[in-house]
Amino acid sequence: MNNCRPHKTILVTGGAGYIGSHCCVALDQAGYRTVIVDNLTNSRADVFNRLARLCDTPPIFVQGDCRDTGLVQKAIADHGVDAVMHLAGLKAVAESLQQPVAYYDNNLYSLLSVVQAMQQEGVDDLIFSSTATVYSSSAPHPFSEDSPIAPEQPYARSKWMMEQILSDLHHASPQWRIGILRYFNPVGSHSSHLIGEYPIGIPNNLMPRICFAVTQKNAPLTLFGNDYPTDDGTCVRDYIHIMDLADGHVAALQHLRTQSGMMAFNLGTGHGVSVLTLVKTFAAVNQCQVPYIVGERRAGDMSAFWADVRRAQEVLKWSAQRDLTQMCRDAWQWQQQLQSED
Ligand code: UD1
Repeated sequence: MNNCRPHKTILVTGGAGYIGSHCCVALDQAGYRTVIVDNLTNSRADVFNRLARLCDTPPIFVQGDCRDTGLVQKAIADHGVDAVMHLAGLKAVAESLQQPVAYYDNNLYSLLSVVQAMQQEGVDDLIFSSTATVYSSSAPHPFSEDSPIAPEQPYARSKWMMEQILSDLHHASPQWRIGILRYFNPVGSHSSHLIGEYPIGIPNNLMPRICFAVTQKNAPLTLFGNDYPTDDGTCVRDYIHIMDLADGHVAALQHLRTQSGMMAFNLGTGHGVSVLTLVKTFAAVNQCQVPYIVGERRAGDMSAFWADVRRAQEVLKWSAQRDLTQMCRDAWQWQQQLQSED
């Protein structure tokens, strides 16, 4: 056990987004104050009213871009921030292939700026949001944190570059405490159904796309391939409930309180679920039809991957608690809540 660093106030960059907003609620429940820096490019401002209803102490909101180092530094100084969760960033794989420069600009400069602001203010405890797509598609399953790394598109490459920047930083300044969280496939919503994911336009990711197929006439889900070398021919992923993912952030932060070093953690359930299984479970749990057709494979999809979660269990004393039923139920109830507000 190293010297203990009590944390009270956490800066959550990207705190207005899907993952960030759930992290703010989990942090509030664990007794932390939160400060959000977010430029609202991929989120909606009404999330703050929702967070105010869910949190004992609503987050303080600073609107701005993380690349504005002065703004981030002022947020840290003004509010007495003692640790940072850096989640802000662009995250759509297909878009990153079309706009690689925008992705590298946004993601890399944001990280550098946040770290520089932290250095100026003497804050050196950081949780960083990364992705399971940094792993090599040819690595054996499940992916452990030591599996070979080989990101295949600009989004994942930007995340891996950022991990390497943080590794160099930690090497040069070992007092930094850094937790890298590699997410698998987060789905679902908070149990209140007051916050959740807001896909813009027709959703790309599977769970919101299932909800879309159920609610829209003539927009069946396309299963992207059913000839993969899996049990039912559809791709296998490790879906994790968004609240479990948020709790994983709190566990990682609490780990930083007492342990120095830099370490990566997979946040998944450790179980692979096929596309078809998710579709059938969704229909059964929510007693609805999910219209679907079988289409071509989607370029770039890996056939199957899921997480080896032993490190998070052993080191963070964290494991996912919510099952596929709850993921499907919460995703659908959030969707219905949104529709009832329209
Ligand atoms: C994607 C991102 C990943 C990100 C994650 C967030 C890629 C390559 N990776 O993962 O970086 O962290 O989202 O949740 O984009 N599917 C269909 N029909 C659809 C949509 C999806 O069959 O309309 C299938 C896909 O082929 C895939 C599975 O559902 O097999 C999951 O897809 P998706 O939700 O997009 O997530 P990933 O591609 O795994």
